[in-house]
Amino acid sequence: MAIQAKNSHDVAWVLEQIERIAQFGQGRSGITRLAFSKADHEARNYIIELMQAEDLTVHIDAVGNIIGRFEPEGIQADAPAVITGSHLDTVPSGGKYDGALGVVCGLAAVSRLKERSGLEYPLEVVVFAAEESSRFNFATIGSKAMAGLANVSAWMRAQDQDGISFSSELAAIGRPIENVGSAARPKNSIRGFLELHIEQGRVLEQEKISIGIVDKIAAPTRLKITVVGTAGHSGAVPIEERQDALVSASMIVLAVRDIATEYTYQSAVATVTILKTYPGAINVIPGQVEMWVDIRGTDHESVIGMIQEIKDAISTIADDNDTPVSIEVLFSDKPVKLDETIIETVESACQQLKIPSLRLDSLAGHDTMNMAHIAPAGLIFIPCKQGVSHNGNEYAAPDDIAAGLDVLTEALYQLAKC
Ligand code: GLV
Ligand code: MN
Ligand code: MN
Ligand code: MN
Repeated sequence: MAIQAKNSHDVAWVLEQIERIAQFGQGRSGITRLAFSKADHEARNYIIELMQAEDLTVHIDAVGNIIGRFEPEGIQADAPAVITGSHLDTVPSGGKYDGALGVVCGLAAVSRLKERSGLEYPLEVVVFAAEESSRFNFATIGSKAMAGLANVSAWMRAQDQDGISFSSELAAIGRPIENVGSAARPKNSIRGFLELHIEQGRVLEQEKISIGIVDKIAAPTRLKITVVGTAGHSGAVPIEERQDALVSASMIVLAVRDIATEYTYQSAVATVTILKTYPGAINVIPGQVEMWVDIRGTDHESVIGMIQEIKDAISTIADDNDTPVSIEVLFSDKPVKLDETIIETVESACQQLKIPSLRLDSLAGHDTMNMAHIAPAGLIFIPCKQGVSHNGNEYAAPDDIAAGLDVLTEALYQLAKC
């Protein structure tokens, strides 16, 4: 029996590339490929080689997005592009599919389409820079810049836990932060954008359906909360005389959880994700606590309502415990409704391929939510095992990946022909 050669059109190729990319930053409990780290650069360089092997023209824009472009012969010079893409950076100890799936399948889809007739628009595969907020605390930086939503003054101050600035990492690839705004693509220069991603939830798995077509994307709001108490001797100061910042912070953690529970029916969530105590010594009452809250929801009004309830609860806790609290809103993105025409294009691709699909919302953030500001944009989900993501145990089944690749290819074709 002849063995089918692996090439960039096969799902076998996709699976192999996902495994190869997973080697960059692989650790004991998952993949740590933080934005612009050594591992991220290795993965980025690897993808550039794959793009070049597919004869795509590769360009790195002012924020470090990698763009691989294919122009069918004879198209108009200013024809708007059909774009697909996702990201290669991960959270600490993340999985191999969050981001990489959409990049590799995007490249495979464009490789397939290069050989189909009737294309009238250029095709691009984009690796968005710094999608995860894990390193610099800002989310989806690359796609925000591409969509003209760059927050240059805030990004100038962004730094990681070791004090390494985002701007120095950009400078290291020859991209001065002052120029980040020039990564913006003009409105009407993109005919359509599509991202393929794992669901990071359980709906598709429970429904036993391979393809989810996203209707709305919840966008994150991030709060930085500082609780000020009084540091003191953890043996000598009587309990009733303390202003222990960590005790107040603990009440805030529970209040955030309780308020979020009330909003479950509106699909809004809130999580205290980072807690730092100062001075952080075993024999000192915590004098200060810094805590970060991640808030998401698909309905902006509910998110606003939840933030107000959290602020009110914090104010009561601060007064009751005599520990003043300040709250800084680091950023607050708005939820996004995706383009109905693109949704229908993906639905018709599923029908044509006889692959069942359903519509659902995304509670995770994605580059698509920014691209939706400048282009008709869509997001396709495939199931991931037990909804596990941002975790080294993330898993997507080959059959679902194959279905996602086929649907992505067909939908891109619908957008790029005639
Ligand atoms: C992206 O991974 C997010 O944090 O939503
Ligand atoms: Mn992620
Ligand atoms: Mn992702
Ligand atoms: Mn090829």
